[in-house]
Amino acid sequence: MTQHVLTARQFNKRQLKQLFAKADRMRVVLQSPLLRHKLVDEHRGLVVATLFYEPSTRTRLSFESAAQRLGIGVVSTENASEYSSATKGETLEDTIRTVASYADAIVLRHKEEGAAEQAAAVSLAPIINAGDGKGEHPTQGLLDLYTIQREKGRLDNLHIVIGGDLAHGRTARSLAQMLGLYKGNKITFVSVPALQIGDDITAYLDQQKTTYTKTDNLIEAVKTADVIYWTRLQKERVSNPGIEAGFVIDQEVLDAMKNDAVILHPLPRTNEIHSDVDTDPRAAYFRQVENGLYIRMALLDSVLHGRAS
Ligand code: NCD
Repeated sequence: MTQHVLTARQFNKRQLKQLFAKADRMRVVLQSPLLRHKLVDEHRGLVVATLFYEPSTRTRLSFESAAQRLGIGVVSTENASEYSSATKGETLEDTIRTVASYADAIVLRHKEEGAAEQAAAVSLAPIINAGDGKGEHPTQGLLDLYTIQREKGRLDNLHIVIGGDLAHGRTARSLAQMLGLYKGNKITFVSVPALQIGDDITAYLDQQKTTYTKTDNLIEAVKTADVIYWTRLQKERVSNPGIEAGFVIDQEVLDAMKNDAVILHPLPRTNEIHSDVDTDPRAAYFRQVENGLYIRMALLDSVLHGRAS
């Protein structure tokens, strides 16, 4: 059976625990030349394709770095909407059928919501959704959750503030759904009404019996927060170009936060986290970036398990 990674909803707690343990091992393996050689031997001959129809720095490069550190070869197109046969009018399905015969897994980023599912329906190789429009970004959700586990030592009984452009931000959507797996979590969604989290996500949280509230009062929300997850305005997706999310993490917000709270951001940031915040020990977003490499190594290793000769 082909093991696609399409949505945050497909993971259970047992799988996440195993994946995070594997990511911990990857971190250790990379410190040891001997263990690195062994790891590379396990994946020799495998190929991953990264097919990106939307801009990316971290997601594509961390997947490619993860693959290469595992000993997996990479074929890539970073601007597939212009550099692939999409410009000639080829359908996504035909492109995927083709790439699936060159690669053992396909990491796909696309501007249309639902593209990863559409690709999975025709692909013989596992599809890894690296962002589908304003839909989901499940591998970012994995690294966000892994970062919370590392920073806070647990994934339950947390108050998580998720803020910014929640209407168009796929990372917030994936993370919120994953947090719902764990008992006692409370989520506060901070945004202006026009950019609040979608009803599909709150309906899912209702189903999981996860407590959540929506507010536009940032200072009040962060006072009791264990985790503050911040996102940028997705200006490439908003229909009203004048709209502003308007919330900035700055010294005033830091002063209101608990001493042991942590700030996460999927990056890139624009102006929603002041650069002064970077030197505060609670700013965890660059540690989060590093965790992305270990998580993507762990994920590729799991998805491709048994495929190497
Ligand atoms: C995010 C994305 O592409 O959704 N970036 C990322 O993958 N780290 C967030 C964003 O672009 O705002």
